[in-house]
Amino acid sequence: MCGIVGYIGPRACAPLLIDGLRKLEYRGYDSAGLAVIDTSPTALGEPPKLGVVRSVGKLGKLDDAIRERPLPGNIGIGHTRWATHGRPTEGNAHPHLVGDVAVVHNGILENHVELRNELVALGRKFLSETDTEIAAHLIDIELANGAPTLLEATKLALSRVRGAYAIAAVSRREPDVIVVAKSFSPLVLGIGDGEVFAASDVPALIQHTRDVIFLEDGDICELRAGAVKIERLLVHGDGSPERITVTPVVRHPRRIDWSPAQAEKQGYKHFMLKEIFEQPTALENTLRGRVSLDDGDINSGEIGLSPEIARSIRRVVLLACGTSHHAAIAGRNWIESVAKVPATVELASEFRYRDAIIGEGDLVIAVSQSGETADTLAAVRDAKRQGAHILAVANVVGSAIPRVADASLYTHAGPEIGVASTKAFTTQLSALLMFAVWLGRRRETLGEDRAKQILQRAIELPTAMREVLDLADACQKIARRQIVATEANHCLFLGRGLSYPIALEGALKLKEISYVHAEGYAAGEMKHGPIALIDAAMPVVVVAPKDHHYEKIASNVQEVRAREGRVIAVVPKGDTTIAELAQDVIEIPDVDPELTPFITVIPLQLIAYHAADLKGTDVDQPRNLAKTVTVE
Ligand code: G6P
Repeated sequence: MCGIVGYIGPRACAPLLIDGLRKLEYRGYDSAGLAVIDTSPTALGEPPKLGVVRSVGKLGKLDDAIRERPLPGNIGIGHTRWATHGRPTEGNAHPHLVGDVAVVHNGILENHVELRNELVALGRKFLSETDTEIAAHLIDIELANGAPTLLEATKLALSRVRGAYAIAAVSRREPDVIVVAKSFSPLVLGIGDGEVFAASDVPALIQHTRDVIFLEDGDICELRAGAVKIERLLVHGDGSPERITVTPVVRHPRRIDWSPAQAEKQGYKHFMLKEIFEQPTALENTLRGRVSLDDGDINSGEIGLSPEIARSIRRVVLLACGTSHHAAIAGRNWIESVAKVPATVELASEFRYRDAIIGEGDLVIAVSQSGETADTLAAVRDAKRQGAHILAVANVVGSAIPRVADASLYTHAGPEIGVASTKAFTTQLSALLMFAVWLGRRRETLGEDRAKQILQRAIELPTAMREVLDLADACQKIARRQIVATEANHCLFLGRGLSYPIALEGALKLKEISYVHAEGYAAGEMKHGPIALIDAAMPVVVVAPKDHHYEKIASNVQEVRAREGRVIAVVPKGDTTIAELAQDVIEIPDVDPELTPFITVIPLQLIAYHAADLKGTDVDQPRNLAKTVTVE
């Protein structure tokens, strides 16, 4: 997830672009850059200058660099990066300049390996590890082959790429034009008086204009000061010119009445709520380009470990802290149930201080959103020293844990701003599920048919997640009635099997943001202690999807009710057995029993969010907590 901006009009564009990028920093902040065309007179026959400045780190660094090397001109594009392909270095920062063309891009080009090989064979030299540079080369090639304009060259170039993009390109040969295009990644145009803005999101332009056009997938546009031409690009087959259909489209601007502050959260009250709602898209991004339904497999290049390692390891050990530890518990279950490989899961903060037996033949999977958690990093270093193979499942590209690891599987959730982790969790689940499928296929413990079935259902999950997100109002009512109105000080969360880590996660969410003491418990353990706490004042959240634990957990619900506990149950659609016993019921859509955690966690996130919001706590920055814990 990155942010892009563009400006064409009468004003000096560098400060406008930097200001726009600042509003998009929530989309990524590991490096940034601008490309600006300077149209002041040049020597006869010389095209205008195209200046590019890039820097690693937050936007302040780019600001400093531009103060040293100003970028005069009033046509330009900019980018703030959240690394996906290639580390956060200056060379990998956008814009990418090839010949006379500069390009910025947000998204992932799925066929980047194939295209890069093809371009290298043509003698093209790459200066970065990014997929974006490929797009810049493709445009440059089309111009060299006679495409008459930047717009035409970009159409032909885009007909070669597969994947997600919001892209902006400028060329010093056409100093009065910006070309932008969108497929899956967001892109919005701002229409001003004699000027046009482009941006990944409304906050970047709302200070300048409230008249915006939300582009749709397939749109490609030529922007000039005061004029916008939009076409729809349809690609058939191999992308040769006759395989492209282009139709002009008219999109009328809409007037936005958000305040700039509201716009940053896209109208959501808190980042946490926005991130809860981003989960279906985040999951799509994690799966994109990695899953092959044709042969029921995961692209090995994405996992980064050799098939020999997959076949030779004796055990998988998952290490993590906090929410990532809960994802790791589900991952452990999948590695055993899907891949049939022995697996254990450990809190990194415990593992590193005991004399754990680990070494050759073990694969350690370190799960970490930030990739920087001190305890996880130290545990990974120890395990590596003792000869274990290391795979990082991380969200922040180029962070410390992936750097230590032998291979990294990134979750592509985009930056998570709310301290309470939500979309990072569900994308970690999907990375771990993909790993289990990959491992099972390499070891031939998972058949092709079952693999296809799991992956097909995984691809359908975003739709089911959106259905559950529609229950947000119901979750708010439950939070009000069961937790806030009753001034509950304690809450119990119960689950079995794959719902056990979800019970842990639901309890963690509630306690960290609403400050209500909450405990997650394996439902089968309730009789060994927590049952003593149950009375009419105790809300008990029961996670009971349709799987082989359903009947057992139904008995636990009976036990809670017999002691007058108040039951809030997450149950399959149409359920009556548990529903009849519960005070409040949340019905979830039918999904594969292996995939229930993706769905059951959402109502728990929403209940925690609304309980905290109704209590008026600082939801995005709860007291005493930090997003990244780099202390031991
Ligand atoms: C902190 C954060 C949690 C996170 C945990 C582990 O406690 O507040 O949201 O789950 O650290 O962080 P990691 O970055 O390693 O996933």
